[in-house]
Amino acid sequence: MVNVGHGRTRVADALRRQAATLAYCVSNVFANQPALELAGRLAQLTPGDLNNFQFTSGGSEATEVAIKLARQYHLARGNESKHLVIARWQSYHGATLGALSATGMISRRAKFKPLLLDFPHAAPNNCYRCPFGKEYPTCEMACANDLEQVILRTGPERVAAFIAEPVVGSAGGAIPPRPEYFPIIREICDRYDVLFIADEVITGLGRTGRNFGIDHWGVVPDLMTMAKGLSGGYAPLGAVAISDRVASEFREKRVAFDHILTYGANPLATAAACEVLEILVEEGLVERAARLSEGFLARGKRLLAHAIVGDVRGVGLLMGVELVRDRATKEPFPPDARAAAVVAGEALRRGLVLYPSSGTADGVAGDHFLICPPLTIGEAELDLLFEILDESVAAAELRLKVRAEPILTT
Ligand SMILES: Cc1ncc(COP(=O)(O)O)c(C=O)c1O
Repeated sequence: MVNVGHGRTRVADALRRQAATLAYCVSNVFANQPALELAGRLAQLTPGDLNNFQFTSGGSEATEVAIKLARQYHLARGNESKHLVIARWQSYHGATLGALSATGMISRRAKFKPLLLDFPHAAPNNCYRCPFGKEYPTCEMACANDLEQVILRTGPERVAAFIAEPVVGSAGGAIPPRPEYFPIIREICDRYDVLFIADEVITGLGRTGRNFGIDHWGVVPDLMTMAKGLSGGYAPLGAVAISDRVASEFREKRVAFDHILTYGANPLATAAACEVLEILVEEGLVERAARLSEGFLARGKRLLAHAIVGDVRGVGLLMGVELVRDRATKEPFPPDARAAAVVAGEALRRGLVLYPSSGTADGVAGDHFLICPPLTIGEAELDLLFEILDESVAAAELRLKVRAEPILTT
């Protein structure tokens, strides 16, 4: 999230300069300088032909925009019936209703189910808890190939797009795919004229040690959403990168994208992001994340010394720790034990902010927490981070065992 770190006065200065020049203009009538500059800077970082941009106020809006772009793309090509977006279980794409319809977290969907669109969901990629009970590599990538089954069941003529996080973030705890996963997904999407949307809201802008998470697998999506690291937390901002292939359908058919946001391409937010991207490039923070990556995960894996830690995984400076009541059977804690929240509470008391989440095992039970420090984190801070983490997990283990005992004996 705060990829370039807190307290960067350069970004504060950029915000002040922009506020004194042009704080606002309506984006469907006027272009503005910082938004144009940001598009140019981003095009240097995005893979392949993802050279066109729509700017939003955050990640959920970016998902909404991607969904509507996919729909309008197919309409422009005369494919009236293509409208559904396939997502995966164990995924998070945002809190607004379209984005929540794609989201595959049972717990976050439950209360709003009657309001959600009927988007189909495919199997998640999760080797620690394979949804097919198989093992890699003899699984023959059943999880990736499940997308084809879902497309065929739904009817390819009704499917507009497939959306996935390159590394599953808050819904799964930093679950990386196998190397074959996204190349297979790309092939299936192409076979059925389905746009591939990469949700890079967490993984984008250096978090995984590459510009974008999907870069690890050499795959170019048709649409790519991003937020968090784009402005590094200094302003509310999201974006959708659009491939030239998709954009040209709009241009050639002289179709406008039918979507307006009051704060779309906001000059203040985009000015902050220009400065953030300059810092990212100037200080080589993406390369820094890549350099730190191996040691970061290796130190995280030392947490396996604690009995309640079932798995530690991640890419770059994005790490997830899954908690279990029994490591041998991978049995999760009961949801009311709130295991991840207990660890996060212990960490917060010691000065470390973690991102706890639940539903990791089956959508309801299961706990994990994410660790995603600024890409500027220094060696001494890393030492402190892992010291606090180790103490916090140990303290939580004592508390959770006490809580779990009555359940074990009934
Ligand atoms: C992968 C992913 N997509 C979308 C979103 C939604 O972004 P926002 O909270 O900025 O609306 C998030 C937020 O955490 C996310 O992690």
